[in-house]
This record gives sequence, C-alpha cells and structure tokens, in this order.
Amino acid sequence: MNFELHSFNPSSVSTEKTDVSLVFVPHDFQPAKDALSVLVAKALKSGDLSAKAGQVLHIYRPVGFAATHLVLVFAAAGAANDVRQGIGAAWACVKASRPKQLSLHFLQQPSAPGLRAAIAGLAEQTYTYTTTKSDEPGRTLAQVVVAVPDDLAVSTLFKRAVAAVHGVELAKEWGNRPANYATPTHLAGVAKALAKFDRIKVNILGPKEVAQLGMGAFQAVAQGSDEPLRFIELRYQGAGKAVAPCVLVGKGITFDSGGISIKPAAEMDEMKYDMCGAASVLGVFRALAELQPEINVVGLIASCENLPSSRSVKPGDVVTSMSGQTIEVLNTDAEGRLVLCDALTYAERFKPQAVVDIATLTGACVIALGGVRSGVFSAHDPLSKALVAAGESSQDLCWPMPLDDAYAEGLKTSFADVANVAGRAGGAITAAKFLQRFTAQYPWAHLDVAGTAWKSGATKGATGRPVSLLLDWLLDASMPGSAT
Ligand code: BES
Ligand code: MN
Ligand code: ZN
Repeated sequence: MNFELHSFNPSSVSTEKTDVSLVFVPHDFQPAKDALSVLVAKALKSGDLSAKAGQVLHIYRPVGFAATHLVLVFAAAGAANDVRQGIGAAWACVKASRPKQLSLHFLQQPSAPGLRAAIAGLAEQTYTYTTTKSDEPGRTLAQVVVAVPDDLAVSTLFKRAVAAVHGVELAKEWGNRPANYATPTHLAGVAKALAKFDRIKVNILGPKEVAQLGMGAFQAVAQGSDEPLRFIELRYQGAGKAVAPCVLVGKGITFDSGGISIKPAAEMDEMKYDMCGAASVLGVFRALAELQPEINVVGLIASCENLPSSRSVKPGDVVTSMSGQTIEVLNTDAEGRLVLCDALTYAERFKPQAVVDIATLTGACVIALGGVRSGVFSAHDPLSKALVAAGESSQDLCWPMPLDDAYAEGLKTSFADVANVAGRAGGAITAAKFLQRFTAQYPWAHLDVAGTAWKSGATKGATGRPVSLLLDWLLDASMPGSAT
C-alpha cells in the first residue's frame, strides 16, 4: 500500500477521480462556497451527518464529485481515538466495493496524534493475511492519498507514520504465519532480505557458532527440536562508528509447546506467536531501512522451537549460560528467559547506550495489564520514562512495572546460581528479575508484550506491537537521560 502526502484544496475533492474520498469534518467546520463545503454544511444542518465523534455519512456517486464514494467523517477535535473510530466506520461503508484508491482529506490541519491515528488506523482496517489461504485475494487498496492544509508542516511525521505501518505489517505477517511457515531459518531469511537495504548488515549464527559462544541456556531450549536454532544479528549504521548503538533483543520462539513441562492443548496454537518479540525487531529494521535516520541500532534475535522429545532439556537440569551463571531449569516452559539471557550477554560486546528486550514472556503479564498496555521493566528511570513517552506518542502504550530485589527471592535454589522460575505470584516481575541478572553492563529495559503482541478470539491476529513504540523511542529519546 502506497501513501502520498498532498496539500489540501477543497475544490480538488470534487474533481478528484478516486474510488473513495474520505473527508474529516472538524467540530468547528467553517463552510466556504465550494461544492464540498456546501454539501458538508447541509449534511450537518439536516443531521444526516451527526455531530458526534466517529459518525459517518456515506454517499454513493455524489453529484458534482468525481469520486465513486464520498464518506464524511465527523472527527470532532481530531483526537486519535475519534479519528480511528471514524476510519473504522468509514471503511465499513466502502470495503465491500474493494476500493483500490482512497483519499483522506483533512479540512483542518490534523494534530500529530490525529494524523498518525488516520494512517495506522487505515492500515489496520485494510490489513489482510493471505499467506496460507488459497482463496484470499488480499488487500485491494493500493494507493492512499493523505491531504492536509499544510503538507510541509507534517511531512516528517507522515514519513514516520508510513514507515511504522510498513514495520508493523512485517511484524504482523511473521507473527501470523504458522510455525511451519515461520521457522528460525525463515526468520533468518527475513533478516537477510532486510540487509539488502542501505546501512543494514546481517550476521546469522547456527547451532555450531552458538555452542562455541557458550550459549548453554539458549541451546538447552533448542535441543528438543530437529529444527535448527538461529541467532540473528542485524546492524543498522546511520551514525559514526564511535556512536554507541541501541540494542533491541527479540524473543524468537517460533513455537512454544512448553517442552517437557508441556502446555495444555487449549489455545496452544497461539504459541506460534511466541516469536512476536523477534518479529517486532525485524519490523523496526524495516522502518529504519525506509527512514535512514542518523542513529546506530543493533537487533539481536534468539530463535528456536520449544518442543518435548527424548533430547529435550528436563525439569531439574542445570545449564550454563554464556555469562557463566548456572541455571536450574525447574520449568521448561519458562524458556523465553533462557534464550534471552544469552542474547543479553552477547549484547555486551556492542558497548550499547541502552538495551531493550521485547518478549511474549509471561501469561502473568497478560493477567496484570491485559491487551491494552505492554509491561516495561527497568531500573533505569530515564530509559523507562522514555519508553513510556514513546508509547504515548506512538499510540502503542506501555506501563512501568516494579523490579524490587525482594521479587528475586523465589529464584534462589540450592542447585545452581539461579532457578528459571519462582512461584506463581508476580510472575511477570520474577521473570524480569531473572533477566536483570544478565544486564549489569548497560542501561536495560524489558518489554513484556505477551498481552499486546496478538489478539485472541474472533479477531485473532498479530498486532505488530510494539514496533511503533520502539521506533519512536529510537528516533526521539534513545539517549538515556535525554528523556523529557
Ligand atoms: N510464551 C509463554 C508466555 C505466554 C503465555 C504468553 C500465554 C502469552 C500467553 C512463556 O514461554 C511461558 O510459557 N511462560 C510461563 C512461565 C511460567 C512457566 C513461569 C507462563 O507464563 O505460564
Ligand atoms: Mn513457555
Ligand atoms: Zn514462550
């Protein structure tokens, strides 16, 4: 889907030949003499367009307009939620006609949140998964024009919103693919394809290299499956070599059965989504490729399957992580922290300014925060605040969680330096406390996206979160201490 930014001109709405013209009407709409103004004024006066946020009036082949469909959307003050709701209602009116082109006209200059909500919202409405369907033609919408009174004023923001959409959609695609279409090797292939873009390099490690590095925790998870693990290292270099990079670390469990500590059958299919952290790292690199910002970013992905077999790691086994710390694997279903801890140790070599890991880590985080906000865990206050701020600006929300040392009590064991699980209480926090042991060398934050990376039920599907959050963080506030 291609997006273009134009400057708005009321008379162009009537002459524009397009499948759908969508017009956002502000609450303080001031009619002029052009055909659109006259129509909007009539629609408001008659009440056919009700002056309630998100309400729409759909007109087919409107007289005096070249567009096939005209949809007036009452956008009130242009708040993000009202714009999103309006886009949803408008798309519901026209989607059956399978439009190829659509224009979004803002009669009033949109706020930053309003513009982003329009672009992200339209992408969300029109996204269709096709990869493993034989009868799904997919998204027909190919050309989107965004028209605003002052296009220059929002062009940077527009580019970022569009790049975020492309990143989010890459993350959705790989999240949604079933595990037999999204193996660690497939994910490595995506990383290789990204390395074709300017400033991006990739390095893929397999079982041998990972063994050589001493990543015993990562290997322990992978050893139960015939599918070989992949450790993916992506580097985006947009600034000088002396500039310390931000490192993103993604959990890439392409299927989490739980291993020997096997999960119940119900909804186990959703564990194909256990690589959504990894997919978000790939999505961020897709957006960086498009924006070419002057920053340095490293993406690390530890990817494997977690399956039961005669070779699987067993409850009680002790493994040695790359950091040298020994870990008692009391529950093989707490595998995410095992693959992440070795990636976090590997991250030290980049002398990073900050490291953020992204993981569908715990069911407990779903209980704590539901599907609205991702959990942020960080002892580094400026970093935590910068991530929360990026969540707000990108409309990809997150919320800080505690990391008191007292939460680590349950990870103590007589048989290793640390156990991989504590009790049920505070499970999202104890998982973060486990990870924290491997992050002493740099400012670190952990994003638990177990509740936000995909939706269950009738609208089951990956969300592409937290690509937008990470992108805003990298572009606005990645320097620890620079958060405002
Ligand atoms: N991938 C799961 C976490 C998960 C579960 C995310 C359900 C979304 C929905 C993770 O590997 C896991 O199994 N975690 C366990 C940890 C427990 C064994 C301490 C969990 O949350 O139950
Ligand atoms: Mn698990
Ligand atoms: Zn998992």
